[in-house]
Amino acid sequence: MELRTERLILREFTDHDWPDVLAYQTDPRYLRYYAWTERTPAAVRAFVQTFLDQQQAQPRSKFQLAITLKSNQRLIGNCGLRMQSADAHEGDIGYELAPDCWGQGYATEAARAMVQFGFDELQLQRIWSWCIADNIGSVRVLEKLGMRCEERFRHKERFKGQWWDVLLFAMLDEEWRGRQ
Ligand SMILES: CC(C)(COP(=O)(O)OP(=O)(O)OC[C@H]1O[C@@H](n2cnc3c(N)ncnc32)[C@H](O)[C@@H]1OP(=O)(O)O)[C@@H](O)C(=O)NCCC(=O)NCCS
Repeated sequence: MELRTERLILREFTDHDWPDVLAYQTDPRYLRYYAWTERTPAAVRAFVQTFLDQQQAQPRSKFQLAITLKSNQRLIGNCGLRMQSADAHEGDIGYELAPDCWGQGYATEAARAMVQFGFDELQLQRIWSWCIADNIGSVRVLEKLGMRCEERFRHKERFKGQWWDVLLFAMLDEEWRGRQ
C-alpha cells in the first residue's frame, strides 16, 4: 500500500527502516509526551516489526505506514489507521515525526491522506484519535483535519512524575465529506 501527497510518500515499512526510526525516537523532544523515557535498538526493532506483521494479516485491519519525503526519500516518521477488526466501522489514527521536521505541516498532510483512505477506501463511519492535552502540536493536527474534541479525560495518564489529561477527538464520514 502507498499513499501520495504533495510532498510525501506514505509507504509500507521494511525491516531496513528501524535505524531511521531509532534516530528520531531517541530525541528528547519526541519523548516528551510519551511514558517512554528512552528507546533502545531492540525496542525500536520490535516496534517496526509490529508494522511488518500488520502487513501480513489477512484480512488486514491496521495500516501503519512510513512517512517519507518525496524530495529525497528520507524516512521522517509514521502515520497509521487502526481498526479493531477488518469489518469494523471505526478506526483511530496516529502519527509521529522526527523533531527536525516539525512545524512544516507534514503531520497534517500525512494524517489527511490517511483519513481520506479510511473514509474512501475502508468506508469507515467514524475516525477518532486521542492525545495528551498538553501536546499542542498534536491537538492542532487533529483540529486542522476538522476533528471535534468529544471528551476531556482528566488525569487519565500518569508518567514522568505527573498526571496528564487526555483529549478524545473524532470525525464522522459526513463531516469529512462536508469539508471536501
Ligand atoms: C505531533 C506532531 C506529529 C506534529 O507534527 P508537525 O508536522 O509539527 O504538525 P503540523 O506542522 O502538521 O501541525 C502542527 C501545528 O501545531 C502548532 N504547534 C506546534 N507546537 C505548538 C505550540 N507549542 N504552541 C502552539 N502551537 C503549536 C504548529 O504551529 C502547527 O499549527 P499551524 O499549522 O496552525 O501553525 C509532532 O510534534 C510529533 O511527532 N510529536 C511527537 C510524537 C507525538 O506526540 N505524536 C502524537 C501522539 S498523539
